[in-house]
Amino acid sequence: MGPMTRIDKKSRRGGTAVEVRGLVKHYGETKALDGVDLDVREGTVLGVLGPNGAGKTTLVRILSTLVIPDAGHAVVAGFDVVRQPRQLRRTIGLTGQYASVDEKLSGWENLYMIGRLLDLPRKSARARADELLERFSLTEAARRPAMDYSGGMRRRLDLAASMIGSPSVLYLDEPTTGLDPRTRNEVWDEVRRMVAEGATVLLTTQYMEEAEQLADELTVIDKGKIIARGGVDELKAKVGGRTLHIRPSDPGQLAAMAQAIREAGLDGTAGAQAVPDEGLLYVPILSDEQLTAVIGLLGTRGFSLAHVATALPSLDEVFLAITGEKSSHTTDTTPEEVAA
Ligand SMILES: Nc1ncnc2c1ncn2[C@@H]1O[C@H](COP(=O)(O)OP(=O)(O)OP(=O)(O)O)[C@@H](O)[C@H]1O
Ligand SMILES: [Mg+2]
Repeated sequence: MGPMTRIDKKSRRGGTAVEVRGLVKHYGETKALDGVDLDVREGTVLGVLGPNGAGKTTLVRILSTLVIPDAGHAVVAGFDVVRQPRQLRRTIGLTGQYASVDEKLSGWENLYMIGRLLDLPRKSARARADELLERFSLTEAARRPAMDYSGGMRRRLDLAASMIGSPSVLYLDEPTTGLDPRTRNEVWDEVRRMVAEGATVLLTTQYMEEAEQLADELTVIDKGKIIARGGVDELKAKVGGRTLHIRPSDPGQLAAMAQAIREAGLDGTAGAQAVPDEGLLYVPILSDEQLTAVIGLLGTRGFSLAHVATALPSLDEVFLAITGEKSSHTTDTTPEEVAA
């Protein structure tokens, strides 16, 4: 990989790395995929969220040429998944939901073997194995058989294995399920680094925090169908209203402000609420117009404001609202500041 490659990748940024149209895959009565369309822009991370059995792994398998779709088509890095599987496999990396390392081989041997399978010359395969073991903090364990590795070490070895061929498109199918927070963070750092170097990533996850940390765009899939898509904040805004947090310069005016907003009928369904203990006024809002009107009204009435912020619902709440199911893992999100 010389500097040429990097320039090449940069210049292609902005294109579509993964294009999926009308993808259908049935297993008997089960519609694992029921007409899926999606695009992943070059150099970005698409997060695919969905409850168990939604069709995430089926999608990844089709995009990796491991499963043939019943209908529809998909193009990855310019190669058709059905018609050009050999070329396609050379440009992708896959970290499966279930670890795919050979238990009996050492970490180093696993990576070396994959390098050779990818037609790397011996010397390059050796260098690549050393480099990736170092990168994933596995150098000390390099000679031990993978069966002696902890779950986190296996995951890291698996991720390293998917990167041997310097893939331009990487699929990560629930890459951190079952990992402790520290190891999860290491994996996230590695994914970020690869994206910074130009890789495109399709990431399936059930961790809302993982989606928030890594994904540029989200697609929510349920029962084989795409049921929502957009940026993290876009989805949050779509699902529910936001809450406006207002801190007046004079806490003594909280009640009067709440009353003014209520009387003007500017707030959303739940009603403006003064919380004197926090010195804050909470106003549910459903649109930018409502937000502007509330702030405008307070200004006209002569109230002086010290701080204004809006909070979106958490991604967990979004997931629950659109799929009707709780995500398996909950996270807390902090309010997002929009103005001070
Ligand atoms: N090889 C198969 N044979 C029969 N049914 C299958 C097969 N693979 C997947 N399915 C079914 O297709 C549906 C989608 O499965 P898939 O594994 O793609 O879901 P998923 O979103 O990856 O779920 P999870 O979050 O549990 O990993 C499920 O109902 C599953 O039982
Ligand atoms: Mg799966």
